[in-house]
Amino acid sequence: MHESNASTRRPPILLKIAPDLTNEQLDDVVSVVKESGIQGVVATNTTISREALKMPKSELDAIGAGGLSGAPVRARSNEVLRYLRARLPRPFVLIGVGGIDSAEAAIERLEAGADLVQVYTGLIYEGPALLKRINEAFVTWKANK
Ligand SMILES: Cc1cc2nc3c(=O)[nH]c(=O)nc-3n(C[C@H](O)[C@H](O)[C@H](O)COP(=O)(O)O)c2cc1C
Repeated sequence: MHESNASTRRPPILLKIAPDLTNEQLDDVVSVVKESGIQGVVATNTTISREALKMPKSELDAIGAGGLSGAPVRARSNEVLRYLRARLPRPFVLIGVGGIDSAEAAIERLEAGADLVQVYTGLIYEGPALLKRINEAFVTWKANK
């Protein structure tokens, strides 16, 4: 069968990364993506940091370890996306995820360089109507580009 046949084409591979990586570690991610020939990055997963939380340390300790999602991860996820886009220009694919819970947050991720966004925790808190609000905002954003 010929190489260009759609059924033989390899599926795109994206690397999903933590928001806890330092910028130096992000530089390593950029090198690995470029050298390996994968298509892009999903930024980001949940965080092990508790810095964005205002709860007393005793309460945090009682809850224990684990990945934190939602609003506390938004700022760093956005920053990671922006950092990666500056080093992985299109056609590398970047999917923005982490704390997107409004149309504004989704647009902010596009502005940072995302090709697509993923919504997880925001969907739980806001419900499926969030997706409609994001899609409408994307249409307006694109029309004004
Ligand atoms: C309960 C839970 C389960 C998750 N499971 C996965 C998983 O199996 N694979 C994965 O790549 N990310 C997983 N994630 C990470 C999410 O896909 C997402 O990257 C992260 O939660 C940040 O986005 P958010 O703030 O919109 O939730 C999980 C997150 C949560 C909260």
